[in-house]
Amino acid sequence: MAKDKLQFIRDDLEALKEQGLYINIRTIGSAQEGWTTVDGKRLLNFCSNNYLGLANHPRMREAAKKAIDDLGVGPGAVRSIAGTMTIHLELEKRLAEFKQVEDAISLQSGFSANLAVIPALMGREDIIFSDELNHASIIDGCRLSRARSVRYKHCDPDSLRNVIAQETEYRRRLIVTDGVFSMDGDVAPMDRLADIADEYGIPLMTDDAHGEGVLGRGGRGIVDHFDVHGRVDIEVGTLSKAFGVMGGYVAGKKEVVEWLRQQGRPFLFSSASTPADVAACIAAVDLLEESTQLVDRLWENTRYFKGEMQKLGFDIGQSETPITPIMLGEASLAFDFSKRLFEEGLFAMALGFPTVPRGKARIRVMLSAMHSQDELDQALGIFKSVGESLDVI
Ligand SMILES: Cc1ncc(COP(=O)(O)O)c(C=O)c1O
Repeated sequence: MAKDKLQFIRDDLEALKEQGLYINIRTIGSAQEGWTTVDGKRLLNFCSNNYLGLANHPRMREAAKKAIDDLGVGPGAVRSIAGTMTIHLELEKRLAEFKQVEDAISLQSGFSANLAVIPALMGREDIIFSDELNHASIIDGCRLSRARSVRYKHCDPDSLRNVIAQETEYRRRLIVTDGVFSMDGDVAPMDRLADIADEYGIPLMTDDAHGEGVLGRGGRGIVDHFDVHGRVDIEVGTLSKAFGVMGGYVAGKKEVVEWLRQQGRPFLFSSASTPADVAACIAAVDLLEESTQLVDRLWENTRYFKGEMQKLGFDIGQSETPITPIMLGEASLAFDFSKRLFEEGLFAMALGFPTVPRGKARIRVMLSAMHSQDELDQALGIFKSVGESLDVI
């Protein structure tokens, strides 16, 4: 009898389990709130990228419901083939204004935004200078482009300068970096990268997934944070984190956006986001433009929680943002810690190798404007109790 055709997949799954790399996905049984049902248990939620609490905000829900009543549930088809709804154009205009750039194009996710823009701009004869800790979607975008990817040391402008100086064989060049790095919460030195990009005449691209709604005036992102408006040519964004919905976009110079409408493959060959998603994203821009209250609250919560964790004696790494790594060292300790948090009523993920380097395992706490003072204090109590019982503090 012929060998089972899919045995290799079962073998690989088994290998993942043996190496401790198999991902067990938790089941969320309620809306994203400070308290959320996880695997049937009510837990304090410190795991979500819902930075501003917009994922279940009444204004967002209203906007989505109205869009369904007015426009239905689906976009019909790919925008370039079957026409674009005005609501998508409205979102793009609003995003461009919010980010203070010339134009923006919306895509189905932040991941597909990176897959759209990098291969559309770069090809086989080109070279991409990429921070060594860039997100997987940037790495995949670079691979798809077939350009040569040269990594520079994490957040190190001197290393970038060195690799640029060494590479002389190319047609076009691009510098690309995450804005905020999602595992450590540190921030790319965008002003110094912009200096290098200007000096060498190389287009500069950033992925602002964790900067949007977090950094800059009223959450306008990393470019605003460093006041380098007009010097970053391409900004990728996601609408699934601080914006609380789903979708992605590329914002920046008008010729980049025009080119993506012609050549961005996820734009040309995949249907647009739903009217409900798009309407909710517009409501998110409204909320951010109306008031800085949610962003301010996010930062108050961040400062309070990080300060108290340090007073308790935890090592919270080098984060400069609401992403708060609780550094524990060995992966087994981090996984134990996360399990104990879960038992005591708090949901926060453990991250170990290969997601983070060996010996740098951690719990990653995501702070949010949705957390009340009481929820933050309860969380701190749980961290103290688990930290003491595992001899971490
Ligand atoms: C830096 C970065 N870029 C892109 C993405 C992907 O965004 P999305 O979830 O909208 O596809 C993420 C999300 O994990 C991210 O952290």
